[in-house]
Amino acid sequence: MKQICDGIYAVGALNPAMRVFDIVMTTDYGTSYNSYLVKGQQKTALIDVCHKSFFEPYLQNIREVCDPKSIDYIVLNHNEPDHTGALAELLPELGDVTIYTSQAGSIYIKAITNRQDLNLHVVKDGETLDLGGKTLKFISAPFLHWPDSIFTYLPEDKVVFTCDFLGAHYAEPYTFDYNMAYPEKYGKALHSYYDAIFGPFRKYVQAGLQKLDALSFDMVLPSHGPVLTTGTMLETAIARYRGWSAPVQREEKLAVVFYTSAYGNTKRLAVEVMDGIRESGKQVEVRLCDIIEHPMAELRQLLNECDAFAIGTPTINRDAVPPVWELLAGMDAVNSAKRPCAVFGSFGWSGEGTGNVAARLQSLKCALVDEPLRATFVPTREDLQRARELGARLAEQL
Ligand code: FEO
Repeated sequence: MKQICDGIYAVGALNPAMRVFDIVMTTDYGTSYNSYLVKGQQKTALIDVCHKSFFEPYLQNIREVCDPKSIDYIVLNHNEPDHTGALAELLPELGDVTIYTSQAGSIYIKAITNRQDLNLHVVKDGETLDLGGKTLKFISAPFLHWPDSIFTYLPEDKVVFTCDFLGAHYAEPYTFDYNMAYPEKYGKALHSYYDAIFGPFRKYVQAGLQKLDALSFDMVLPSHGPVLTTGTMLETAIARYRGWSAPVQREEKLAVVFYTSAYGNTKRLAVEVMDGIRESGKQVEVRLCDIIEHPMAELRQLLNECDAFAIGTPTINRDAVPPVWELLAGMDAVNSAKRPCAVFGSFGWSGEGTGNVAARLQSLKCALVDEPLRATFVPTREDLQRARELGARLAEQL
């Protein structure tokens, strides 16, 4: 337990040993599941909860501040189980609490606790809750990063509880940013956290920052990582979010032809697709990328930022090759609907790779401009012409 300021206490748990979060995210510096107790003159609120694996130390932290039965409200800014997993176990320790959360959150938390009898209060944007000398104001912040997300603002203390927003998987036992031992490592953690959690939600990040701009505050109390304070990391973290979420400005549209090729046959098709785009007369920058020649993180970024793309794959063991699937695994499924794309590839004796990739893109609601283009072994002159025409059709969609 750590006191943040008069009447606000950090009661969450540190998990410095964690190295993978949510299956997909490496966490070199562990994480923390931050939760805060806010004691007003009349009422007490618990802001966010904790991962269920840390229930016992979490409960102990709460007990260091107050009798759990004296808690009146629980505010769930976001209901992912790293912040709500311990709630089912915590509730029997509490008295009659009312849970404040968003409409979406009220649905999720019933399924997370497997309880339909929760005493829930669905908050409206801008609604307030008076604790006595401390007012909680709830601010809608959808898709930061789930539909349920809200911020909670406490104007008397000039603090905002943002849950995941401006958080980082970074565990140090010092709570405040000005005590951090390794600020550079924190900077890396902040960035990788942003990329993994908020990267697909840029426009919502911009909207969230605008909402914060309208508030007067000196501290952000996120639910992962250190407390951010004015003059230390607060302005820096906000400025970085602003930069990372800024719309990408390009003078020309960007089309990328991704491919990989065992014997140079799919590569020949890729070059023709590229030339077809170039000769279309459209103002478009075209890049050609052999998937196995570039870092996968760069390719994924390119895939998610381009305006149109083509993917060329050979077929091995009746499927597209693993590097192609690795690329597609990094596709921003949230923002890919209707993006123009094309699929092509040379194969030997079965040729399922292109069809499997096309099916995946269709499931993501991308806009395939044509059936997959397939060529057997060495592309003929006609195959190469078809590849060039495929590139032209892709360019037409830009
Ligand atoms: Fe930290 Fe989206 O949960």
